[in-house]
Amino acid sequence: MAGVRAVVLVVLLAYTVGGLAYDSDMLQDVCVADPKSGILVNGFPCKNISMIAAEDFFFMGISKPGQITNKVLGSKVTGANVMDIPGLNTLGVSMARVDFAPYGLNPPHIHPRATEIIYVLEGELYVAFITTSNKLISKVVKTGEVFVFPRGLAHYQKNKSKYPTSVIAAFNSQLPGTQQFAAALFTSNPPVSNDVLAQTFNIDEHNVEKIKAGLAA
Ligand code: GLV
Ligand code: MN
Repeated sequence: MAGVRAVVLVVLLAYTVGGLAYDSDMLQDVCVADPKSGILVNGFPCKNISMIAAEDFFFMGISKPGQITNKVLGSKVTGANVMDIPGLNTLGVSMARVDFAPYGLNPPHIHPRATEIIYVLEGELYVAFITTSNKLISKVVKTGEVFVFPRGLAHYQKNKSKYPTSVIAAFNSQLPGTQQFAAALFTSNPPVSNDVLAQTFNIDEHNVEKIKAGLAA
């Protein structure tokens, strides 16, 4: 009997943990986000259903390449998430488009709330993620191919070719969140103190200042 109870407990625990590992499930057909309501909930409160329209479920912002303004990185991420498409609220999915100039980089980052899957629209791309035991999993993916970055793991993409590259990304969250390591550590507000960064990377504070200045530019 105790054995059966233990199995039931393990199954329940696995189900609960699994169930919470992604956006909460929906309880109605649609819940188009009403970000102006002023009510704070996990996600957004719903617009009155009589007010919803096709435009709430539509976005053309990733139909064309994004403008690459960061010449150092040479990449541009254009989101297509609940902030752009209010109808995504409670649906647990979103997309993005990433455009790369020749040799462009989408620098190391994580998504705290989603696994990401990319589809290469054009060109080829070196992609990589790093497990929590610091194993690097990497591959070159080409037009029409797909690659997956597991939720919460550090990953990046580098165009190692002299041609532009674009990918479409899909996420199992309406708002996956992105935290870039370099930006988080060196451009936070208020800042992470120089002594902490110098000790973390075993460099002197002068070099910390140099990195901060380079990222702020
Ligand atoms: C790519 O990794 C992205 O998050 O858009
Ligand atoms: Mn990503």
